[in-house]
Amino acid sequence: MTQSLTITRPDDWHLHLRDGAMLHAVLPETTRHFGRAIIMPNLVPPVVTAAQAAAYRDRIMEAMPKGAAFEPLMTLYLTEDTDPNDLAAAHASGLITSVKLYPAGATTNSASGVSNFENVRHILDRMAEIGCPLCVHGEVTDPAIDIFDREAVFIDRVLDPIRQATPGLRVVMEHITTKDGVDYVKANDQDLGATITTHHLIINRNHILVGGIKPHYYCLPVAKRESHRLALRAAATSGDARFFLGTDSAPHLDALKETACGCAGCFTATNTMSLLAHVFEEDSALDHLEAFTSLNGPSFYGLPTNPDTITLTKGGPVAFPAKLATPDGEVTVFDPGFPVHWHVT
Ligand code: NCD
Ligand code: ZN
Repeated sequence: MTQSLTITRPDDWHLHLRDGAMLHAVLPETTRHFGRAIIMPNLVPPVVTAAQAAAYRDRIMEAMPKGAAFEPLMTLYLTEDTDPNDLAAAHASGLITSVKLYPAGATTNSASGVSNFENVRHILDRMAEIGCPLCVHGEVTDPAIDIFDREAVFIDRVLDPIRQATPGLRVVMEHITTKDGVDYVKANDQDLGATITTHHLIINRNHILVGGIKPHYYCLPVAKRESHRLALRAAATSGDARFFLGTDSAPHLDALKETACGCAGCFTATNTMSLLAHVFEEDSALDHLEAFTSLNGPSFYGLPTNPDTITLTKGGPVAFPAKLATPDGEVTVFDPGFPVHWHVT
């Protein structure tokens, strides 16, 4: 029996497209299924000003595959020197959709992030005033805090104080990886949402560490223990409007991942929709897939849903490429470790 499901075209509310040759290689993997994506600003150097965001948007549009109707939603990288007037003008003109907060040193290319949150208080106040959402990488960088606890500690030490100090600020907790993150979102009001990645619904920390170290499962925030993965699954598949898809698809060349000090990031743009259909079917929640991938995100951001649809059809195993070629080397496509039968058209 053919099983098929037609849903509103999905969006990706957290995506790394990079620049140059890598941008050209990975962009078609996203535009094939997705209507829009929030484009992360952690280039080297980061996208800090409106002028840099406009130039980056132009480079993305130049790399766009023929016929693609994909809209990049640009973000600014928040620094302690960000000019609130530049930010507000970029938001008012529609150039940027949100602003990204990286604690300094938390992840790939985050050296210019925020060290002292008091120094960005006035910028966050301005964002609350103009209704510009803040996307947050929620991990503390205190070396005394165990890497598996860094998200939970961030909520208590940084996120909750920021939200108390700046009422009305709309916040997206990006790529949550813990039950603590899920519970914090559920306990709070509609000004708070969270993205969940595809890979954090599929792997726990055993996948990274048991039977040999698996660099292609290493990302930040790092996958946690199984009970946390199950909490993420329950949140994503529940239909709750505060949870939506942000793949955090983060390509790195294999040479930079398969090494003594490998980069963090899983590349999931290619197979995300097939994997999500598998996950939602496994949890008897296919009827909530559209909410997670296509409805809850636009609703949080106050944007219309995409006007068209995609269709997922269950059939024989889908043959995904294991690698994506770029002029500088290969990028490994996320391997879920099980066969997937959902084809996307
Ligand atoms: C991201 C990257 O490579 O830019 N890596 C990752 O593991 N997710 C950065 C990030 O979003 O933390
Ligand atoms: Zn990311």
